[in-house]
Amino acid sequence: MTIDSTIPVLTIDGPTASGKGSVADGVAEALGFHVLDSGALYRLTALDAERLGIDLNDEVELAACALALDPTFTASRIFMDARDVTDEIRAERIGNLASAIAPFPALRGALLDRQRAFRRAPGLVADGRDMGTIVFPDAPLKVFLVADVDARAERRYRQLIERGTPADLDLIRQDLHARDSRDANRKVAPLAAAADAVTIDSSTLGLEEVIARVLDLAKAKGIVR
Ligand code: C5P
Repeated sequence: MTIDSTIPVLTIDGPTASGKGSVADGVAEALGFHVLDSGALYRLTALDAERLGIDLNDEVELAACALALDPTFTASRIFMDARDVTDEIRAERIGNLASAIAPFPALRGALLDRQRAFRRAPGLVADGRDMGTIVFPDAPLKVFLVADVDARAERRYRQLIERGTPADLDLIRQDLHARDSRDANRKVAPLAAAADAVTIDSSTLGLEEVIARVLDLAKAKGIVR
């Protein structure tokens, strides 16, 4: 696969519920860039592996499942075989399954080309855990978005309540802790800031402020005018 490395990529990595997805969407909208929600690919793999009854310890089968995925991404929805799975893959259970299978190198390798294929003109904003370190190491702007665990738990809690899903703040906090430590401590592509990443702490910042900071950085780097 040939990828045009002159097409700019902005990477936004960070822990669960740090607001990466909303920031990536806002930045992409402001710039007219494409978006890659890489976590969705891990979640789709988890959902499909469960549907197919694949043993979640079977790395070879999981990688084959990831390669065979054929999702359609529209502006706001994700379809698999014409089925709208947008809400299903957002469930905490699927997020945890995704995090449990994400350490397998063969599975990560199977998703690599698919992620890089999102790099299309005029540019891409990619969010995940290893966008700046592994998937797009040549990205001209890398952001590492953090927020303290209480701020992230509150945000996730509010999102769930707004969706009408019952939620328990303490359980969410514990869950975030467990997922962060699994994502940060795995051997392959752990959650980590790239050496050349700019860290933004969004604990006390609103979404628009974070988006504005990323856009300022993109201007300072000469990615956009
Ligand atoms: O970002 P999101 O919460 O949707 O990701 C779900 C899980 O997928 C993460 O907890 C992480 O284990 C995995 N993931 C990953 N690498 C990425 C994106 C997500 O390992 N680039």
